[in-house]
Amino acid sequence: MCVLCFHNVCLCVTCLSICLPACQSVFEMDPGGPSPLMHFVVAKKTINGIFDQLLEYVKEGSEFVDETWRSADLEQVAVEEQCLEIQTCARKLATIREVLARRHMKVAFFGRTSNGKSTVINAMLRDRVLPSGIGHTTNCFLRVEGTDGDDAYLTTEGSDDRKSVKSVNQLAHALHMERSLDSGCLVKVFWPKSRCALLRDDLVIMDSPGTDVTSYLDSWIDKFCLDADVFVLVGNAESTLMNTEKLFFHKVSERISKPNIFILHNRWDASAWEPEYIDEVRKQHMDRCVSFLVEELRVVRQEEAPGRIFFVSAKEVLSSRMHCAQGMPETGGALAEGFHERLREFQRFERTFEEFISHSAVKTKFEQHTLRAWQITEAIKAVMDAINIASAERKIFSLEDREDQKDRLEFVRGQLNRLTENVKEKINTITDEVAAKVDILNHPRTVNIRPLLPPDVQEQFHIHLPSRKFVLTYDLNLATLCADFQENIDFQFSLGWTALVSRFIGPSNAKCALTAMNQKFQVSHGQGLYSDHMVFSMATGVVSLTSRASMTVLVIGGVVWRSVGWRLITLSATLYGLLYLYEKLTWTNASRERALKQQFVELAIHRLRAIIPFTSGSCSQQVHHKVSFFVDMKKITEISLFNLKQQISFSGYVNTAQKA
Ligand code: GTP
Ligand code: MG
Repeated sequence: MCVLCFHNVCLCVTCLSICLPACQSVFEMDPGGPSPLMHFVVAKKTINGIFDQLLEYVKEGSEFVDETWRSADLEQVAVEEQCLEIQTCARKLATIREVLARRHMKVAFFGRTSNGKSTVINAMLRDRVLPSGIGHTTNCFLRVEGTDGDDAYLTTEGSDDRKSVKSVNQLAHALHMERSLDSGCLVKVFWPKSRCALLRDDLVIMDSPGTDVTSYLDSWIDKFCLDADVFVLVGNAESTLMNTEKLFFHKVSERISKPNIFILHNRWDASAWEPEYIDEVRKQHMDRCVSFLVEELRVVRQEEAPGRIFFVSAKEVLSSRMHCAQGMPETGGALAEGFHERLREFQRFERTFEEFISHSAVKTKFEQHTLRAWQITEAIKAVMDAINIASAERKIFSLEDREDQKDRLEFVRGQLNRLTENVKEKINTITDEVAAKVDILNHPRTVNIRPLLPPDVQEQFHIHLPSRKFVLTYDLNLATLCADFQENIDFQFSLGWTALVSRFIGPSNAKCALTAMNQKFQVSHGQGLYSDHMVFSMATGVVSLTSRASMTVLVIGGVVWRSVGWRLITLSATLYGLLYLYEKLTWTNASRERALKQQFVELAIHRLRAIIPFTSGSCSQQVHHKVSFFVDMKKITEISLFNLKQQISFSGYVNTAQKA
């Protein structure tokens, strides 16, 4: 919402220029309402707020791009150049932000000496801020700006020392003390904002020595005029525009394209003493000034020019305003006839000037920076877009890779389950076979002899043979044994380098050899054993090659080479390529499954072989235990049989004795 007229509009710089015509109706209704200078103040606040947000966003973006670039997981998503570019953008924005914060509206007053420049400024400021008087008063450039404190002070060029200024006379006196200052020097006057409404709204006013008292107009323009938003040429009612004033503005318009110029015909109260020619004189001044602005300087159109020319009396306005400030009637001083008309003309000048300078300053002070900021944001957008596209591509690649990995995992898991089932079945078969071989120990007769044994032995027999069936117990724990199983179902050409080396020096040595080659043969002293082993393997391979048919092959190869030459090489290469293609095409899922099974079986066999001594030892111990029990039983049975025989022979003897 617009802070001036409360229209529901955006506060951006562009919208403000749309909003302000609506605000003008508010100003016209209420002359004492908000100053048109507020347009600049609000625009500055808004644009600074926008730049703050932008800067924060760019800093965050810069950190994000930097992190992305440095992250190893996200390589290729952001590159160093993008990092540097966004950092440069952030620096440029920060610089613009600083410049914008110092931006203000600036109006510069020029004219011949004693035309009343300082008096006009004082009338606008409603106080005797600047020294004025007859003769050549202002001897250097005086820049007036607001200060938040209660005391006025001034600083001279090249020094930040604050010199206290209690009153305008003291200021004038202070300037007299600075006699060493030449007309091209600058004195900054800081006047309390609380004592002057105009200075509250970021307005800086520049007073100058008379253009007719210097020969350094060019240096003045370079030093004080290039950043001015509005120039006010103060002439006087008694004389027409002089060449010195015209020359100065010609030079200004050479440096600045279409400077905004107002012309004040000051001391117009003098016309009250010669009323009979007042209209003619006014028309004469008006025509000459319009011609100067339109035809000579070409800074305004014909119809706009009269709106830039005013006939005022700064002395009267200042006097009446100071009277009012002291609570006295505004016409308290000796004022000439037609004062109210001249006062209204001065007020019209002030209102037009304020509206003009605020609009002009918004355009000249912010437009370029807004455009520059827009270009910077476009550059940042391009960087972010590139990163966004790269990250989207990376995401798609990662998702595809993840799906592949999931498929592969499922496949491996399924194969592993099937293999495990197979191995379990085989183990069960082997177990059954072993059990069948030792089943003799479970023969029913072993148990049927129990009634033949004495009761105490029967009891012992019962304890030691709780189960009729003898079962060998062992735990192969295949899952733990093969926990580190690592499948390799990538395609491998049977005549490839890896395969040939494996075939030539054995798979384990090949692995060592290929790994060592990858490490560029950086074999340390600690690896001497491995190196010796390698050399031995290779030597054995070479000897074996030599001992077998190498010599024959070489001899035949030499003969064939001499007869067929390059044709043989081409034929061999073609055959080699065709073989590679054939193997690659036949490397299907079935082949992978076969390879996986083969690898698992090899590992399982290897691991099972390793635990054979331990497992077989455990089994033989169980069998031994069973056999020794059986031997004990046999002994007990024999003793029992002997006892039984004795009892039988004894009872036979008794029977015979009884019969006898
Ligand atoms: P320099 O600083 O010397 O360049 O002069 P200036 O252009 O700043 O003029 P200044 O404001 O010092 O005024 C010069 C004299 O003209 C002073 O005595 C003022 O009182 C007087 N003066 C200024 N404005 C008016 C006016 O509108 N009417 C009359 N009658 N006298 C004025
Ligand atoms: Mg002056």
